[in-house]
Amino acid sequence: MAIEIIATGRALPSHRISNAQIAEKIDTTDEWIRSHTGIGFRYIADAQTATSDLALLAARNALSLALENGSVQEQSLEELALTLDMIIVGTITPDYYGTPSTACLVQHELGALHAGALDINAACSGFIYGLENAAGLLSLNQERKRALVIGADILTKIVDWEDRGTCILFGDGAGAVLVEKREQGEERRGLLRTILRADGSGAESLIIRRGGSRNPYQRGEIVDKPPYVQMDGRAVYNFAVKAVTEIIEALLACESIGIDAVRWIVPHQANARIVAAAGKRLGIPAEKFFLNIENYANTSSASIPIALDELNRREEIKRGDIIITVGFGGGLTYGGNLIKW
Ligand code: COA
Repeated sequence: MAIEIIATGRALPSHRISNAQIAEKIDTTDEWIRSHTGIGFRYIADAQTATSDLALLAARNALSLALENGSVQEQSLEELALTLDMIIVGTITPDYYGTPSTACLVQHELGALHAGALDINAACSGFIYGLENAAGLLSLNQERKRALVIGADILTKIVDWEDRGTCILFGDGAGAVLVEKREQGEERRGLLRTILRADGSGAESLIIRRGGSRNPYQRGEIVDKPPYVQMDGRAVYNFAVKAVTEIIEALLACESIGIDAVRWIVPHQANARIVAAAGKRLGIPAEKFFLNIENYANTSSASIPIALDELNRREEIKRGDIIITVGFGGGLTYGGNLIKW
């Protein structure tokens, strides 16, 4: 049995803002943001757009690509949606806190009448966790064949726009992959290996303190801003460099392959310096890492599937290529997938 990604899609809000535009509002500069993070622009959702809207668009784009590239036999998007067995959305910015899940909203809009649906909260590692969960669910039950795995977040609605240490980092977006369970041929392919790890001792270093059961809003309280992300940037940075290094090493070791066998490492796009530092520690050339952070900033769980979609549509990933994804985020969570495309 092979769990293969057979199509990809992405969706971004239409409004794109530059570092210079942010610098008009807060005390920062394009130069500082670029030199400390590699970020140049980010897309920002408008007031009417919620996470499920972007997730739905990315999902439709992935399904449309599957229809176009002939990897499925169905003739229409509606027909294809009916074949989905599972919809998983990695997100920490659901349309509604608690319930309903964003995945259920996507399931309804797609008309995926036979699919189960659930959200995964693993912050920026959401897609990596989601892909492994989809693979597990497809493997467990003979009847299940197809799953949509989506990473979608609108972080710009929950950052503190007065905190220059965090607000400059994030952007909005969604990425999706259509996953299918297929017969294994002579060669192993598809999702070959996943490593999922967590370090809850670092929970406080990336946290949304208000609104949950630990610290709910109180009756009569005047709330003058939405719940927002608080971050110990330096702690997250150090954790992230270690996490990326550890996961790449572990994935290569598990499969007994060298870095030369890998076509792309697709890292979570949080900070280009994190990727450069991990690459340097591992002695891996910068060209092995796919980076698009300049355009999108950190789109949280969407960053890896957006990157996969870019590569796929530019035909920079070919069948048989080995891809490593690696990510880290709030929780703290981290992990990676090793995929033979
Ligand atoms: N513009 C200008 N100056 C800024 C700034 C901004 N947007 N943000 C912070 N600064 C200032 C600080 O106030 C500080 O000034 P001081 O020396 O006068 O006190 C100085 O820059 C250095 O701040 P510091 O926080 O030490 O910077 P840094 O080099 O650690 O970079 C981050 C900050 C946030 C870019 C970096 O820590 C980081 O990327 N961490 C990981 C964050 C992350 O990826 N989070 C998501 C995980 S999924």
